[in-house]
Amino acid sequence: MAISEGDRLSVTLVDVADGREAEFVSLVGELASLTVRQKYGRVEAIRDEGQPLRFYVLRFWFDATAAAACHANPAAQALTSKLYRIARVIHVVNGVGQPASSAGLLTDERRKQAEADRRAGFDRRRRHQERLEGERRSGRDRRLGPRRVRERPGDVDLVGAARRAREHGDAAFSHFKVGAALEAVDGTVFTGCNFENASFGLTMCAERVAMFKALSEGHRMFTRIAIVADTEAPTPPCGACRQILWEFGGNLEVQLANLTKPTGTHRLQDLLPLPFDARLL
Ligand code: THU
Repeated sequence: MAISEGDRLSVTLVDVADGREAEFVSLVGELASLTVRQKYGRVEAIRDEGQPLRFYVLRFWFDATAAAACHANPAAQALTSKLYRIARVIHVVNGVGQPASSAGLLTDERRKQAEADRRAGFDRRRRHQERLEGERRSGRDRRLGPRRVRERPGDVDLVGAARRAREHGDAAFSHFKVGAALEAVDGTVFTGCNFENASFGLTMCAERVAMFKALSEGHRMFTRIAIVADTEAPTPPCGACRQILWEFGGNLEVQLANLTKPTGTHRLQDLLPLPFDARLL
């Protein structure tokens, strides 16, 4: 298929989770054939030579209408949502809705800011700070919250983090404190603990606190979660947490432990067989 002047291009940077390359390749294949079949344009994926899990997905659209039709296509949306489950996706060039010549390139400036925000995972109170390189932020410009643990994925003592988080649990009614620690693909750890409420139904579990903290800071890809309770038998996540963890974390490794020892390791798909999720909508 020839690409001419008026065509539009979207470029996406995709960091595929370790062990999910085969799924990624087949997803891109499906997306590519759908794109050609529906006459939206064509799709190409290029692997980064330096980073085997990084791909650049190029989508050449026939025109803006074809791009919009593809985005509205439920089959394409289902494939995209699967992609989000196995990869971190960053839109580098958005060729839809603007002329190809001025397509929204992620400029170095924006990339620097996005990287820093992702690393620290914090809001900035002021967008346009006039701060010299290396100068400390002060006053209203200060970063919010404590720094996060960020190590190489797999290196973190996730159970230890969940045990420490559990100490902040507020279980005034059940006296059953739970701690959780969720690891994002880049090694950042988000902890959570349970909070009970006088109107019992508003109680929030440790796992969901950890997951929502991570999501609210822009993380979308996770590897493992540790869950700790003071019980001899394993304390697996409740049904509501399984659903949330599945929808946002995919097939996580779930490490269960008590205060002194591990009590089991599972895959989320085994804890939530036949799940209801976006693929069915
Ligand atoms: N709890 C969690 O934090 N996570 C679970 O997956 C199971 C239950 C909390 C909720 C409540 O505060 C207490 O444990 C007893 O149900």
